[in-house]
Amino acid sequence: LRASFSSKAQKENNQNFNHKLQPQASFKVAVLGAAGGIGQPLALLIKMSPLISDLHLYDIANVKGVAADISHCNTPSQVRDFTGASELANCLNGVDVVVIPAGVPRKPGMTRDDLFNINAGIVRDLVSAVADNCPGAFIQIISNPVNSTVPIAAEVLKQKGVYDPKKLFGVTTLDVVRANTFVAQRKNLKLIDVDVPVVGGHAGITILPLLSKTRPSASFTDEEVEELTVRIQNAGTEVVEAKAGAGSATLSMAYAAARFVESSLRALDGDGDVYECSFVQSDLTDLPFFASRVKLGRKGIEALIPSDLQGLTDYEQKALEALKPELKASIEKGIAFAQKQT
Ligand code: NAD
Ligand code: LMR
Repeated sequence: LRASFSSKAQKENNQNFNHKLQPQASFKVAVLGAAGGIGQPLALLIKMSPLISDLHLYDIANVKGVAADISHCNTPSQVRDFTGASELANCLNGVDVVVIPAGVPRKPGMTRDDLFNINAGIVRDLVSAVADNCPGAFIQIISNPVNSTVPIAAEVLKQKGVYDPKKLFGVTTLDVVRANTFVAQRKNLKLIDVDVPVVGGHAGITILPLLSKTRPSASFTDEEVEELTVRIQNAGTEVVEAKAGAGSATLSMAYAAARFVESSLRALDGDGDVYECSFVQSDLTDLPFFASRVKLGRKGIEALIPSDLQGLTDYEQKALEALKPELKASIEKGIAFAQKQT
């Protein structure tokens, strides 16, 4: 499983995963929203990590049974459940990585921004608790709209005096996972080899796959670029419509988030060769937050990778300029929301 998250280059290191169930390190991970559609399979997948000693599962309801169930898996981490705001501080105490999939999902006809009114407050309150109880943790935000919830989290952390931009991440791994899958299918490539950087943000046209930077290099006709780009941008909606009112992507999202958690833990454990795309504070464009490939290390983001944005095709350059106004507005909406609260 761990090998399947990784590139070919990383695979060699991971090949003994199934035989090495003793923890190689002892990191504590908390999932906030752990009883939800994403939270449950995410908790199950990361229960398989040999890098986790303690897995804390938090939700406002229904988390006791999820934790009891997952705790029977004979993998190293100890699972504990925490229910409701009164148990949140205990859940977060001493945690290294906090993953936040709490909040409502889309139904057909909705945009991610339609979730703002409910999810903005949820993310604000959870990140405020993170600031109070584990301010040094990596914070990984899944709750939509990511283009606004990450700026909200940054403002809350600033207000608490503990903002470290190197440790705040919007989880956009699912966009990369989808891009890799669709490109491999379209070009008949081996899935494990394919890596497509996806930049910008996580909603509609703000999701910009850089097909020209696909590794191993692949050539695409103009029609293929258009078709693949639009499919990757609309993949979330594809799932929302297929689920027909029963929510949005949960299983592929859990897979993607588990990959991001695993990458973060490897970086925390000293692996010097960990790269992921994420929506982070950035100076790669004129926007204050932007998704790009980042190098992860023990202290969080060690470097943003500017090279993906160099030498773009005309199509990509136009798409990059076109996404900026929408992404800027979503970022500003998040910041204004958080500043209004003080
Ligand atoms: P869900 O409704 O199945 O689960 C959400 C969980 O959050 C529920 O268990 C609920 O009890 C919990 N919750 C609500 N308020 C909470 C609070 N204050 N504290 C703790 N937990 C709380 O939804 P889901 O399908 O798991 O989706 C969750 C979020 O993830 C949505 O906002 C969705 O849009 C987003 N999402 C993001 C991506 C991405 O790529 N970043 C992908 C898929 C979904
Ligand atoms: C996704 O990309 O699947 C998520 O952002 C959920 C959604 O609402 O599409």
